[in-house]
Amino acid sequence: MYWVLPFVWSVSFWDSLVNGGPPVATELGPDDLDFAAALHSDAFARPWSGDEFASLLSQPGTFGFVARRVGAAASAPLGVVVVRSAADEAEILTITVSRQARGQGIGRLLMDSVLQRLHADRVATLFLEVDEENAPALALYRRLRFAEVGRRPAYYADAEGRHTSALVLKRTLR
Ligand SMILES: CC(C)(COP(=O)(O)OP(=O)(O)OC[C@H]1O[C@@H](n2cnc3c(N)ncnc32)[C@H](O)[C@@H]1OP(=O)(O)O)[C@@H](O)C(=O)NCCC(=O)NCCS
Repeated sequence: MYWVLPFVWSVSFWDSLVNGGPPVATELGPDDLDFAAALHSDAFARPWSGDEFASLLSQPGTFGFVARRVGAAASAPLGVVVVRSAADEAEILTITVSRQARGQGIGRLLMDSVLQRLHADRVATLFLEVDEENAPALALYRRLRFAEVGRRPAYYADAEGRHTSALVLKRTLR
């Protein structure tokens, strides 16, 4: 039985050496914007440049978080979220996690960081828009108790010209 412990320890040691330690989210800053743009361009058809991220973050009430693994050499951002908040409402402007890091709780970590911050700022409601066919994003938002409050038919179009609706989701914070 006791032989298992050193084995488990060595597996997690090597895992953290290769992949880095546990993921943490910190405020998105000027040094992260080129990485943020690279992550965004890998996920969306209409990519945002580093300058566009900078211009968004310079607007009042706009902030973001970046996730990375602590330790080891793996310090490149794994995910990014940007939020705009005005009065007691806020909106997710974008969230993306690098392809290799999906399904590891990074999206959840970023959204939890946003919810914590908005709660501290006494924001009442958080909105976002999501493609009705974006199953991973819908799974994340449903898990966080977002509710559908609207639908914009044929809002998105893919490269073949096929249209899908945008769902407007809302999460009440207080
Ligand atoms: C949507 C996205 C941010 C999710 O990030 P992620 O780090 O992979 O998500 P997490 O690992 O934190 O998973 C959060 C929850 O969603 C679920 N989930 C994630 N991917 C899923 C998938 N492909 N299928 C089903 N459920 C999924 C997880 O099981 C988890 O639920 P749990 O807490 O019950 O276990 C990521 O897929 C992404 O960057 N997609 C491309 C950009 C995008 O579509 N952004 C959203 C625009 S609205």
